[in-house]
Amino acid sequence: MFEISLKGQVCLITGATRGIGKAVALTMAKADLMGIVIVDIQKDAVTEETQKELQSMGVDVKLVIGDASSEEVIKEAVKVCMDNWGKIDILANIAGVSYMRNLEDTTVEQWDKVMAINLRSTFLTMKYCSEIMKKQGYGSIVNTSSIAGITGGNTGPDYGASKAGIIALTKFAAKKLGQYNIRVNAIAPGTIATDMIRRNYSTLTPEQYEKKMAAIPMKRMGEPEEVGKAVLFLASDMGSYISGEILDVTGARMS
Ligand SMILES: NC(=O)c1ccc[n+]([C@@H]2O[C@H](COP(=O)([O-])OP(=O)(O)OC[C@H]3O[C@@H](n4cnc5c(N)ncnc54)[C@H](O)[C@@H]3O)[C@@H](O)[C@H]2O)c1
Repeated sequence: MFEISLKGQVCLITGATRGIGKAVALTMAKADLMGIVIVDIQKDAVTEETQKELQSMGVDVKLVIGDASSEEVIKEAVKVCMDNWGKIDILANIAGVSYMRNLEDTTVEQWDKVMAINLRSTFLTMKYCSEIMKKQGYGSIVNTSSIAGITGGNTGPDYGASKAGIIALTKFAAKKLGQYNIRVNAIAPGTIATDMIRRNYSTLTPEQYEKKMAAIPMKRMGEPEEVGKAVLFLASDMGSYISGEILDVTGARMS
């Protein structure tokens, strides 16, 4: 019988207070994860609830509150991991933002911010965690792209571009780090029922909303937990010979 187990393993994750990141953390907890460092910009009752939920499942949780696109914040998160457990088995880059806007109404500041949170944070965590993983001789990295990174998307010019950058970065790192037994993959979710989508879809008319759902062959949004299972598969030993892969989690939506 196969068993997906993360027993004794440690994960550094960005963006896990709510939504997909929280589901990823809880899914890993169900697989017996030992410790987790969560880097998130949000610190409120929701953050505490997530922390308590994970702790009640036996996971040792450390919070690093800050912007994942800050080099100092990421260095601090790596330090917390090393000080507590002396290793980083899994890096899960989930933090991301998206805003509905067109080319002409996207400012340079908005562009830079989205690129920093989505793409630079992924670069920074990979840069610092891979140093440690190289010394360990193992590691598994899962990044979060999007179907928008493949199709260009409909959200904003910055969003699809940042998510396409994550695909390139994932493949680059997979090629460079394979020799150290470090696997690097990404998920590319479609439409997943989280605050991000609820906010982006809040201005749609019922007809526009129906059209969006009709474009998904499985005729429904994905649940965050369904993305969590995909991340667990890639992060765990079940994906032991998979690296440089972009796994669509879209209910067959391809455009
Ligand atoms: N929901 C979808 O349909 C969908 C589709 C494709 C890809 N994605 C990607 O999945 C990831 C998670 O999205 P979600 O839908 O759960 O979003 P969400 O808005 O529900 O959650 C995002 C999480 O990231 C955190 N975060 C935001 N900015 C941060 C920053 N600067 N530093 C640290 N943490 C930060 C938030 O506090 C929150 O915990 C994102 O990268 C997103 O682009 C989502």
